[in-house]
Amino acid sequence: MSSHIIFREDRILVLDQRKLPFKEVFVPLITLDDFVKAINGMIVRGAPLIGIVSAYGFAFGVKELLEKKGELTKDDIKRIYSKLAKTRPTAHNLFWALDKMKKGYEKHKDERDLPRKLLEIARFIHEEDIKNNIMLAERGAELVNDGDTILSHCNAGELATGGYGTALGIIRKAKEQGKRTKVIITETRPYFQGARLSAYELKKQGINFEIVPDNHVGLLMKKGMIHKVIVGADRVALNGDTANKVGTFMIALCAKNENVPFFVACCLSTFDNSLPSGQSIPIEERDGKEVIKIGKKYITLKSYKALYYSFDITPNYLISGFITEKGVVVQPFTENIRLLFKE
Ligand code: MRU
Repeated sequence: MSSHIIFREDRILVLDQRKLPFKEVFVPLITLDDFVKAINGMIVRGAPLIGIVSAYGFAFGVKELLEKKGELTKDDIKRIYSKLAKTRPTAHNLFWALDKMKKGYEKHKDERDLPRKLLEIARFIHEEDIKNNIMLAERGAELVNDGDTILSHCNAGELATGGYGTALGIIRKAKEQGKRTKVIITETRPYFQGARLSAYELKKQGINFEIVPDNHVGLLMKKGMIHKVIVGADRVALNGDTANKVGTFMIALCAKNENVPFFVACCLSTFDNSLPSGQSIPIEERDGKEVIKIGKKYITLKSYKALYYSFDITPNYLISGFITEKGVVVQPFTENIRLLFKE
């Protein structure tokens, strides 16, 4: 399985992503509250990983409460579900995984080994994500040419998923196939997922990269320094409108202006076909303090107000295609996304 999320019978160990790349520290998650805090507090992040950790959280939460109470009511399950669901509302994978866990609970609720059954489902969700990432990467690597410079925003690599990665997984696969690439990593204010996490992964994988401040994208594209953009996604509506880390929309606008292909790489678990467009995707708003602080250090006066939407919506017309485990989806998106789920 993956090296940043380790399964033990009585706990899950997750790599604390807040401390990377300086320290590799694992945090044990045992109680439901441990899981909730890990997701909300950004110890783990990235839509697919959020889904996986919430699935484990559901299983451990049921086990914890069963040990306390002996039996569970419908309300207990609702409470476990909603505590986890409230952590990061934009990530569709979170709801996708929790719905699978709830179904599993309904199926096995009268069995003596319910906690074990739920753990097995969570492990299955985890393993499937890795397999799907690899299939997606194989499809995506076909679009990568030897010598390409690819821009990626935030972190859509192994650390954001069950393992391997989506957007960065494609670049990793291209390297395995012998293609030389360079990755332009946007630093991704205010959490610096690009400068800290994508750089950490790419360095380990021996992939050439350069970190740029977020505001360099227009200039680099104008200079012809970017051949393609590949980003991940947190939620894709049926018409292809895509929620991803705030700043993605601006990158897509620059790409359109400069005729740079702009791809979104994500597994089917990120598509929310219940939403006709991106207008109804909930956008997580985080504490403005996270903008005026880097780690524990304030970069300006504590009393200054700041605003922080964690995601933005890239409208479908700016997107060249979606790279998924089932292949590349191009316009017309509504029809083709529907087909993706029929096959
Ligand atoms: O706030 P984060 O770090 O959870 O945001 C993550 C992203 O926006 C990623 O690009 C997205 O989840 C795709 S990860 C495969």
